Amino acid sequence: MNRIILGDCLDALAALPDGMARLIYVDPPFNTGKVQRRDRMRATADDANGTRGGFAGKRYRVERHEAGAYDDDFGANYLDFLIPRLEAGLRCLTPDGSLFVHLDWREVHYVKVALDRLLGRERFMNEIVWAYDFGGRSPRRWPAKHDTILWYALDPSNYVFNEHEIDRIPYMAPGLVTPEKAARGKSPTDVWWHTIVPTNGREKTGYPTQKPLGILNRIVRVHSSPRDAVLDFFAGSGTTGEAAATHGRDFVLIDSNPEAAAVMATRLARFAPECVGFEQPASTKESGLFA
Ligand SMILES: C[S@@+](CC[C@H](N)C(=O)[O-])C[C@H]1O[C@@H](n2cnc3c(N)ncnc32)[C@H](O)[C@@H]1O
Repeated sequence: MNRIILGDCLDALAALPDGMARLIYVDPPFNTGKVQRRDRMRATADDANGTRGGFAGKRYRVERHEAGAYDDDFGANYLDFLIPRLEAGLRCLTPDGSLFVHLDWREVHYVKVALDRLLGRERFMNEIVWAYDFGGRSPRRWPAKHDTILWYALDPSNYVFNEHEIDRIPYMAPGLVTPEKAARGKSPTDVWWHTIVPTNGREKTGYPTQKPLGILNRIVRVHSSPRDAVLDFFAGSGTTGEAAATHGRDFVLIDSNPEAAAVMATRLARFAPECVGFEQPASTKESGLFA
């Protein structure tokens, strides 16, 4: 069942069966008006030509290489791009499934109103704020250091919420509770403090706008069950796939960027060896976009 598909999700979703996923998490482009790009530094041992010194007198050659890029400029047409794709994804949810849409201040309010219209406000469950504290600070306004994740349940009276799978976090004022409670920690609210992907950690793939595994682990564990399928159709570096695979769920990951598909195939090979490389459906090949 584990699959990585290269193509525009509008086409790729049409080929997936109805009701195949219990959980959809998507982190679409945020409409930043830029090309999202990250460069990575690669250090290679080279005693003859290396310009950087290392441990025990070793020399290293350092090269910059592009780890991936995608266009994130939709102007005023953002909803025309996103909503038909979310609608196509909803067909693939089980009747008790959940949809998570990860955005930031630029488009989240417009998408919330559009999704309320599409699904009905009664299906809206939570606005989760992922708060982090990293990067520059504007001297002219409050620095924007949070993203927003909208949760909708297709059936608000029957959905997956594995309360016992919620990880516990430290109390802010542990001195105000008993030592036992302080040691156990508390369950999080709808505001999730979590660092961005550590710049030098094993988790980092170098793909632009990669989201932290900790956020996806929490969503996957609480909102799906083992052997369920999890679908992400703006999958980027495949964070959703890694969270799904490590918790015994299947994954279906779609991205239109060949670099993303290549990063995912490498990243997920050790979790799902049967899922070698990525698929490129004939329809997307024929479009000529992904030659
Ligand atoms: C914000 S990134 C996702 C990052 C991902 N959550 C991660 O942790 O790496 C958004 C992704 O959407 C992809 N994308 C943009 N338009 C798409 C489309 N029409 N179909 C599928 N993927 C698309 C981009 O290539 C990009 O990889």
